[in-house]
Amino acid sequence: MTFKVGLLGLGTVGTGTVEILLDPSQRHPLLQELELYRVGVRSLDKPRQVNLPSQVTTDLQAIVTDPAVDIVVELIGGLEPARSLILTALAHRKHVVTANKAVIARYGDEIFSTANAFGVHVMLEATVGGGIPVIQPLKQSLGANRVHTVMGIVNGTTNYILTRMQQEGGDFAEILADAQRLGYAEADPTADVDGWDAADKIAILASLAFGGRIKLDQVHCEGIRQVGATDIAYAQKLGFVIKLLAIARNQQGVPNLSRTNTNSDLLVNDPTTPPAQLEVRVHPTLVPRDHPLASINGVYNAILIEGDPLGQVMFFGPGAGAGPTASAVVSDLINLAAFLKLNVASSSAKAALHPLLSCSHENYCAVAPMRSLVTRFYARFLTEDQSGVIGKLGTCFGDRNVSLESVVQTGLQDNLAEIVVVTHHVREGDFHQALQQIQSLEAVDSVPSLLRVL
Ligand code: HSE
Repeated sequence: MTFKVGLLGLGTVGTGTVEILLDPSQRHPLLQELELYRVGVRSLDKPRQVNLPSQVTTDLQAIVTDPAVDIVVELIGGLEPARSLILTALAHRKHVVTANKAVIARYGDEIFSTANAFGVHVMLEATVGGGIPVIQPLKQSLGANRVHTVMGIVNGTTNYILTRMQQEGGDFAEILADAQRLGYAEADPTADVDGWDAADKIAILASLAFGGRIKLDQVHCEGIRQVGATDIAYAQKLGFVIKLLAIARNQQGVPNLSRTNTNSDLLVNDPTTPPAQLEVRVHPTLVPRDHPLASINGVYNAILIEGDPLGQVMFFGPGAGAGPTASAVVSDLINLAAFLKLNVASSSAKAALHPLLSCSHENYCAVAPMRSLVTRFYARFLTEDQSGVIGKLGTCFGDRNVSLESVVQTGLQDNLAEIVVVTHHVREGDFHQALQQIQSLEAVDSVPSLLRVL
């Protein structure tokens, strides 16, 4: 029995996928039941690394409507025509495997509703973490757990840049330029360095972990452009490394403010607090040096999941690249081959959706506003070097119930004193109010950096 695969896109990941499909020996036996039947490319003239046994065409529409195709693999990337091709394939009752995080994060709603309506599956292991298996674990192996946090380093480009900034003491712009020269960063690095790629990925992970769809515009997103060598050096002195973290967390799991800030009106165990709101955010973060995510360096990705009763589990590996991402694509194909095989073998006229492969949620998660976030902050101030300034900063923070963990003043920069503050856990709204008051002080020149601390 063979199942016919129509592959859209023969770029890096498409080529890696073809290489696995054409060389099934010593891999899962179900691979031998997958036939690479048609391949859709943008140009027939481009030289290819693989000899394709199947029919190659530039007519992608013909593949997604071909009655003989069982599974469409979408690896063309971008929003259109990828979205339309996926929807057409689903409406023609083809299962879809995709690596396209941008399409899933933006159009997951209509894509999964269409898949459910036509009784087919959309598989997306390759959308997050490249070769790291994290989607199927969230759907299946971790199903016994009540997840309260998913956090990770899900963008290799920014992790590479931050790792080099930390190791070499260089500044963002110069290391980005070098990363582009070496091929570690795109010519247009916006989606990576501004955090959008990570935002797509955490929206997908949060949706699976918390059983509801996520509106992408509710994902708070800050990139790494504002992280400077000075902050990396201060972080290091204070026992932290700076990482771009993507975090989704159920606020019921946040630290109890009463340990640090007895006056706050947002104690998490306050019965007036609305139940179970979700934080979904991407931002550079000071991570304690002994935290499991602190040692994930270079282009690697890692996703840490905390749940009850499991505790912590961390998935680590290559977050991009032809082979790793193709490994994830083909794992989805194997799952679909298993599903198709069982259903072809059964006598039922219309196969039911597999409950562990399909999307079962239709509602949106309630995402909490950032002002209700409870976190620690790192802030760097440039001030006049005169007596009483640290006292005034302390008073502004104290007035807003912001408790300080450490205050460091190490020297002068252009005749201005550089003061670095790390807070205890505070409510983000309180912190910003204090900051506003501080910025209006005559002795305060500027606040060059403001980062959250894990
Ligand atoms: N641009 C992504 C990264 C890889 O740098 O991790 C694909 O998701």
